[in-house]
Amino acid sequence: MATTLIDSYHRRIDYLRVSVTDRCDLRCTYCLPDGFNDFEEPAKWLSHAEMARLIGLFVMLGVAKVRLTGGEPLLRRGLIDLVQRIAPLPGLRDLSLSTNGTQLARHAQALKSAGVTRLNVSLDSLNPDCFAHITGRDGLHQVIAGLAEAKAAGFAPIKLNMVVLAGQNLDQIEPMAEFALREGFVLRLIEPMPLGQTGQRMPLIDLTRLGESLAARFGLLPRIMSHGAGPARYWADPTGSASIGVITPLSQHFCEGCNRVRLTVDGTLLLCLGQEASVELGPMLRAGASDAELVAAIQSGIARKPERHEFNEAPQKIVRFMAQTGG
Ligand code: GTP
Ligand code: 5AD
Ligand code: SF4
Repeated sequence: MATTLIDSYHRRIDYLRVSVTDRCDLRCTYCLPDGFNDFEEPAKWLSHAEMARLIGLFVMLGVAKVRLTGGEPLLRRGLIDLVQRIAPLPGLRDLSLSTNGTQLARHAQALKSAGVTRLNVSLDSLNPDCFAHITGRDGLHQVIAGLAEAKAAGFAPIKLNMVVLAGQNLDQIEPMAEFALREGFVLRLIEPMPLGQTGQRMPLIDLTRLGESLAARFGLLPRIMSHGAGPARYWADPTGSASIGVITPLSQHFCEGCNRVRLTVDGTLLLCLGQEASVELGPMLRAGASDAELVAAIQSGIARKPERHEFNEAPQKIVRFMAQTGG
C-alpha cells in the first residue's frame, strides 16, 4: 500500500486537521453568526474510535502532523480519550490543538500528559470590552488564565492567533505584541478570510507590511520556524524565545506549498479550506467499508485536491462557516 499522499500539483500531504466538534461557546463576528444553531446532528458525529480509525489510516499514508480543531475542541466530551488513542500512532510527529482558550485552564495539564505537543490559542484583544465585542462573550479573563495554565503545563511554543479586524482591534496590535514578547508567546496576525456570511462581511485587510514594521519596532529578525512549518511568516527576537508572524492568505496566498486536508466531525474530508471539493468518508465508514476501501477513497480525493482558494476572485464562494471547517 502507498505510504505517501501526493496531489496532482506534486504537493505532499502530510498534515491533517480534524474538527472534533462544530460547536463553540463564542460567537466571533468573523466566524459564527449570533444566534446560529444549525449545528451537525450528534447522530452524525464520528465517535472517538471512528475518528481514531480514520486518523490511523492517514498516518499510515504518511501524515505526520495532526491538529485537533473545532468549533471549540475542548467542548467535545472525552477529548483526552481521543488524544490518548492517536498520540502513540507510529509516524505521528506532531499532535497539536487550536482552541479559543476559554476552557483551557481546566484541561491544559491533562492535554499535555495525554500527548498534545503544541497549542494555538485564539486571542483577538487584551481589552475586555473589545474582546467581548468581537467574541460575543465576556471571557477574556478565562483565556488569560488558560494561557497561564498552558505555560505552567510546559507547552512551548504557544501561538496566539489574532484575526486583524479593521475598525475593531487595530489598536490592540501593539499591546498584543508587547504581551506576546513579554510572556514568550508567538503572536500571529491573521487576515480575515471570507468564509460564510460572517467572514464575507469583514473588510479585507492587507498585512503584508505589518510584520516588517513590527519587527523594526521591536528589533526582531526574520526567522524560519521549525515547529509546524505552516502558512505563517515569522520574525523573532535575537534569543529566539519570542516571535511575531503574519498569515496572509489573501494578500499573498501560500497554496503552492499546501500540505494539508481537513476532516470534519461527520467524517467529510475537505480537500481545501477555500473550496467545496470533498469526500464523504463518514457514511462509508458506517456502511462497513474496509480499510482498503477507505484508503482508496482518501487517495482518489487527494488526487482531486484543488490547486488553490479563490478568496480574492470569488469571495462569496464558501458558505461554510469557519467553525464547521476548523480553520
Ligand atoms: P501551525 O502548525 O502552528 O503553523 O498551525 P496553523 O497555522 O496551521 O493552524 P491554526 O489552527 O493556528 O490556524 C491559524 C490560521 O491559519 C487560521 O486562520 C487558519 O484558518 C489559517 N490556516 C490554516 N491552514 C490554512 C490553509 O491551508 N489555508 C489557508 N488559507 N489558511 C489556513
Ligand atoms: N478568517 C481568518 N481566520 C479565522 N479564524 C476563524 N475564522 C476566521 C476567518 N474568517 C481563525 C481563528 C482560530 C483559527 C483556527 O482560525 O482565529 O484561531
Ligand atoms: Fe491549501 Fe486550500 Fe489553504 Fe490554499 S486555501 S493553502 S490550497 S487548503
